[in-house]
Amino acid sequence: MGIYNIENDIEKILIDEESLDKCVCRISNEIEKVYENSKNRIVLVCVLKGSLIFASELMKRIRLPIEIDFIHASSYGADTISCGNVSIKSGLSRQDITDCEILVVEDILDTGHTLSKLLAYLKERGALSVKLCTLLNKPSRRQVEVPVDFEGFSIPDEFVVGYGLDFNEKYRNLPYIGILKKEIYKNI
Ligand code: IMP
Ligand code: MG
Repeated sequence: MGIYNIENDIEKILIDEESLDKCVCRISNEIEKVYENSKNRIVLVCVLKGSLIFASELMKRIRLPIEIDFIHASSYGADTISCGNVSIKSGLSRQDITDCEILVVEDILDTGHTLSKLLAYLKERGALSVKLCTLLNKPSRRQVEVPVDFEGFSIPDEFVVGYGLDFNEKYRNLPYIGILKKEIYKNI
């Protein structure tokens, strides 16, 4: 290994690769059961960038004719289209979603602000249904109620990275969910 190994910045592995794989299998089964009799278009919407790995792993295991789309939402930053306090940095590739059942795939549900706005926005645009699948949930941090349809893990109030989640755009490439060392935040 070269001069910098990102694993050195991890205090503790919270969810290892095997547990993540098992979780993806369980959730994909749950998703199949919910949508198996649907005659509508089912669109899995990956919320960038954090749910990149989770959404990719999940879609591989769903044996239904799903479609994939992406949305880049941010609760801060005022660039591009804005809906409420959430700005959509890059929207869905399709304009008309009135014939779609939307399944939003997110990395983590924290305060709930981003997702409540995003789900409301998709409903306003006339989707047949809008459901939420989140890999992680930090219920102790919630400020806005958000109904969760599919959930991976409920976790304590720790700042986690890896498997898509970042700190300052880094650590997304770790294959597990880890707790970042406190000294990493202090240096910023
Ligand atoms: P909220 O639910 O509106 O507070 O926003 C959730 C967003 O905050 C997520 O999509 C993440 O981008 C980010 N976030 C919250 N908690 C963490 C964490 O522990 N690690 C990395 N990102 C986090
Ligand atoms: Mg995110």
